[in-house]
Amino acid sequence: MENALINTYSTLPPVSLVSGRKPISLPRLQEMRAHNEKITMLTAYDATFAAVADAAGVECILVGDSLGMVCQGLPSTVGVSLDAMRYHTACVAQGVQRVTGASWIIGDLPFGSYQESREQALRSATVLMQAGAHMVKLEGGGWTTETVRFLTERGIPVCAHLGMTPQTVHALGGYRVQGKGDSADQLRKEALALQDAGATMLVLEMVPAALAASLTQHLPRCHTIGIGAGDGTVGQVLVMHDMLGINLGKNPRFVRNFMTGQSSVLDVMKAYVCAVKNGSFPDNTLHSW
Ligand code: KIV
Repeated sequence: MENALINTYSTLPPVSLVSGRKPISLPRLQEMRAHNEKITMLTAYDATFAAVADAAGVECILVGDSLGMVCQGLPSTVGVSLDAMRYHTACVAQGVQRVTGASWIIGDLPFGSYQESREQALRSATVLMQAGAHMVKLEGGGWTTETVRFLTERGIPVCAHLGMTPQTVHALGGYRVQGKGDSADQLRKEALALQDAGATMLVLEMVPAALAASLTQHLPRCHTIGIGAGDGTVGQVLVMHDMLGINLGKNPRFVRNFMTGQSSVLDVMKAYVCAVKNGSFPDNTLHSW
């Protein structure tokens, strides 16, 4: 087993080539933003892919509850348990440590693990932080604000998530664009409240590009990370299986298959990092909502 792992990791660049990477921290992310350097985020769920993402220079690795779909074959993220998130977060943390240890790891709080009370959220966040996360992510606006404040006051960095929030797909009536028309104002208020409550990162999923860009200007202390939200955010995130072109379902139209023209997973991830940094991904013409 140990030999198999060594073989897998030995295909990565020698640590000496990538170890110059500065460890990612909240001050480092703020510094990148101040220098207009885009932040890259990618999901990963196991040690090997996390190690490759780390070697490719991905700044933030999201252990997303999308693992329900891509690892567990579930129809949505609703069935993912906290124990599954703990397990995959620990696997990712091990993988990152095997390479540079620099990537910032975000653990997704799954459905049902934070809705009941702020105390329940703290207990669940503690589980993910102790498994190796540096930050937790939770979905939703208004009602989550006090939970975000409770966690951040206790030293747990929080990434919020607005727009299309997959855990509430049934209430939203499907995977639909959010924040169009009158609902844009509501989304704006929620984003500002989350920043005031201490959220230092905000995933904006499937919202109009113009809204995401304008929110970014109004959230100096909270880094917006877009997915299907145009190119005006501080950073971008993709589900790894989508960008590798191995999504079992239909790829959303904002996804790019980065496998095209590449011969290794490491090169695919490097191409993603490069495209986000040089602004060639995302393509705003694919975000005309
Ligand atoms: O779970 C996940 O992968 C996510 C991304 C879609 C942002 O929340």
